[in-house]
Amino acid sequence: MVLSSELRSHAERIKSRYPDPRSAMLPLLYLVQSAEGHVSRDGMQEVGELLGLRTAEVEAVATFYTMFRFRPSGRYVLSICTNVSCALLGAKRLYEHAEHLLGPQAHEMTPDGAITLHEEECLGACEQAPLVQVNFLNYARMTEEQLVTLIDQLQAGDPPPSSQGVVPPDLQTTCRILAGLGPPEGWTQQNNGEARPATTEASPERPPQSTAPEVARDTESQRGRGTEPPEEQTEHPEPVEGQREEDADG
Ligand code: FES
Repeated sequence: MVLSSELRSHAERIKSRYPDPRSAMLPLLYLVQSAEGHVSRDGMQEVGELLGLRTAEVEAVATFYTMFRFRPSGRYVLSICTNVSCALLGAKRLYEHAEHLLGPQAHEMTPDGAITLHEEECLGACEQAPLVQVNFLNYARMTEEQLVTLIDQLQAGDPPPSSQGVVPPDLQTTCRILAGLGPPEGWTQQNNGEARPATTEASPERPPQSTAPEVARDTESQRGRGTEPPEEQTEHPEPVEGQREEDADG
């Protein structure tokens, strides 16, 4: 069984947010990926059981999205867009350079388990070309020198803030956030949007960094495929047009 009893109760809660349970498929797939680091056949079967669907139906959806991995993956998925806008600004060269630095096995996972290299289609932020993502967070207008530094930092488990100013958590934590569970207990969010473990003591086995809501928000806006509705409606901060005129008259 992929999902623990605790994660199963989260899954039921996620399901209950949707009028049609099958709409919960993406967050449930993220939940599976948060548990096992990728989405296995057993994981898809469990999602199917939860939603009353056949495994093949879950697989048909899961394989459409590049955010789901179907084999064990590194803690950081390094995605390099090589579609037209990025390619025109040297993205193919960036990708080949990353391949050269990380070796051919990086398409699955580097031997240290740090990085999975992935060649991406358009990530929907062409104005940031050439665009690189780490666990779905953008690193805009990447140069070869910056890429070398980024790879070093990922291998050291110390990723720099993305262009959105957020430090990417490891893949499993990212997927936990995307499933709507938030960062794990003991994680604190700092003023600059960067979340770190509650303790700041250096440790050779550094636990994953988490950034909570920004990851979900940024990812969904980039792909244009939201995974779940917001938990609560926020009030519109601005008065409506008529109201503003009344206030001015008064
Ligand atoms: S072509 Fe790379 S983000 Fe659009």
